[in-house]
Amino acid sequence: MKPYVYITRKLSEETIKELTENFEVKMWDHEDLPAPREVLMNEAKRASALITMLSDKVDEELLTAGENLKIVSNLAVGFDNIDLETATKRGIIVTNTPDVLTETTADLTWALLMSAARRIVEAAEYVKAGKWEGWSPYLLAGHDVYGKIIGIVGMGKIGEAVARRAKGFGMEILYHNRTRKTEAEIELGAVYSTFDELVAKSDYVVTLAPLTAETRNLFTADVFAKMKNSAIFINAGRGPVMDEQALYEALKNGEIAGAGLDVFEKEPISADHPLLQLPNVTAIPHIGSASTETRTTMIKLCCSNVKAVLNGDSPKTIVNKQVL
Ligand code: DGY
Repeated sequence: MKPYVYITRKLSEETIKELTENFEVKMWDHEDLPAPREVLMNEAKRASALITMLSDKVDEELLTAGENLKIVSNLAVGFDNIDLETATKRGIIVTNTPDVLTETTADLTWALLMSAARRIVEAAEYVKAGKWEGWSPYLLAGHDVYGKIIGIVGMGKIGEAVARRAKGFGMEILYHNRTRKTEAEIELGAVYSTFDELVAKSDYVVTLAPLTAETRNLFTADVFAKMKNSAIFINAGRGPVMDEQALYEALKNGEIAGAGLDVFEKEPISADHPLLQLPNVTAIPHIGSASTETRTTMIKLCCSNVKAVLNGDSPKTIVNKQVL
């Protein structure tokens, strides 16, 4: 009997060929909606491998149900949706998709920063709504990006790729990270700062930090209060690193000037979410790595990791090396 692989979202047959040629494969048959919990639980019981999305909760209950499970291959660089401790304890390999999405996610982060700074979404909606009656000096005037100070919280590979873009815009680059990045300091002139110093000095505070016990709720009311009134906050990492209510108050009360958000505390958000009622918020639906090319590469990487593990080989991008 061929090992059984379950994929929790509908992916193109072409991209998963490596699996269908070798294993029994089934996919949840909806592109946009997640598989219900009961389906996931049932499939986990049978599967030797799961390909999961960042929106799937791969918790202790699911991992324990997966008696045959050898690998959970997550279609994301972040793996905060997976109970890594339980997976490791049970000898289940967890893999992610680092590197292949670095530049694409940095592009999106940059697009979000530019959009929030220059009010691109608001301006486009203004034209489409037929409100444009003529040129005027301060019509939809935004903030400069060139020559300003960017502060990057979470200087991993994506953070460094954003810093490279910032260098091209003549920006002063501050960063905060668990470890110093000497290469980025030398090549890009990035300056290591304490978190407090970074938030106080930056015109653009960009967080790309992964969600961990240390980063959860990092951006509180006190932190927003320390930012410049002209600061723009960009979150293209994980929603729960910010206190959304505090961000809402800070934006509403003019403590900061704007926000560009690709991620939220609880996704998806609905149209009546308080942050969406503010004109100085540019919100997009967690599309950091969503270019067709990169998503294809990410899916192929997930498949190659599954194939390797089911064939008894080492996967390319393992998160919990200690299980090997
Ligand atoms: C990831 O891969 O973790 C990103 O959030 C995708 O956009």
